[in-house]
Amino acid sequence: MTAVTVDTTARYEAVFDATVAADERIEPRDWMPDAYRATLIRQMAQHAHSEIIGMQPEANWITRAPSLRRKAILMAKVQDEAGHGLYLYSAAETLGTSREELLDKLHAGRQRYSSIFNYPTLTWADVGAIGWLVDGAAITNQVPLCRCSYGPYARAMVRICKEESFHQRQGYELLLTLSRGTPAQHEMAQDAVNRWWWPSLMMFGPPDDESAHSAQSMAWKIKRHSNDELRRRFVDICVPQAKVLGLTLPDPDLRWNEERGHHDFGPIDWTEFQEVLKGNGPCNEQRLAQRRSAHEEGAWVRDAAAAYAEKHRAEERSGHQDPQEATA
Ligand code: 3HC
Repeated sequence: MTAVTVDTTARYEAVFDATVAADERIEPRDWMPDAYRATLIRQMAQHAHSEIIGMQPEANWITRAPSLRRKAILMAKVQDEAGHGLYLYSAAETLGTSREELLDKLHAGRQRYSSIFNYPTLTWADVGAIGWLVDGAAITNQVPLCRCSYGPYARAMVRICKEESFHQRQGYELLLTLSRGTPAQHEMAQDAVNRWWWPSLMMFGPPDDESAHSAQSMAWKIKRHSNDELRRRFVDICVPQAKVLGLTLPDPDLRWNEERGHHDFGPIDWTEFQEVLKGNGPCNEQRLAQRRSAHEEGAWVRDAAAAYAEKHRAEERSGHQDPQEATA
């Protein structure tokens, strides 16, 4: 590198650092370190992939919802998740990658999605547990991301968080209905909470001392809080909610710690977490296989939309519009 480029890069770096330090936003056209760009693409891709893979567990119950009202709510929620994926792919594309490239990496197993979506939805109560716990954990993790240093990501989060609040409330209400229903319905709700509680705590990532990316992500103000801090915050939110639900959280070590000002809780099975990350979770293969086949089956729609768009661009360039369309 010549002396000039070293000096120029140093000046750009100083502007980048000052912008982040001042809690201002880095925008797509701003200079940014390659590693900052790479970390954002990694995290935003994982986030987007999680949204679209996350459609599968609940979609499994759309045809079997117990009422038209519940079916309509669940359809709206699953549709929202698809939209969240699209916002996040669009935000990731501002970093110079493409949706196609990210989806290819997901389908090839070269990019991750959240561990939580590799668990099965065995009963209708799972739809409630996912809304209350999984979307609740997502909100706890995503609200700080509204203050992320990268503008497009932070702005995508604002709208996503508003919709997640509906997702969490509908799940909570579903569980409350079951919990106050027949003994069998109460048991179904308790069983779902037993199965989804610990995997929901794993959503926040490994313990801080094993987190490969946290220190740098927090220095760049991509992450505003550590994995353990957000996990603790989530536990503190859930404990009183579980009481109102009349359901117990499956952790005998869970208790308020006056001194520390939050709940202590039992050990998380990080071996299970790592196995799921390696692809050995209950549903990893099924989720990716379904994603790949949905992508293949949808190819004709993408091709048709691209052809239609190209035809319109050509007509605009030539100034001639298809007479049939003109009268349409
Ligand atoms: N699932 C899968 N992989 C995970 C994970 C999880 N729950 N938690 C951590 N990892 C991976 C990381 O990707 C990293 O692996 P990599 O280097 O191969 O990418 C490794 O474990 C080390 O973890 P770190 O803590 O160092 O990684 P991060 O700094 O990226 O922190 C995170 C992990 C907290 C999940 C962070 O990436 C994040 O905040 N992501 C954005 C939010 C998100 O993805 N939320 C969950 C899914 S969205 C959702 O639930 C939608 C809702 O509508 C249901």
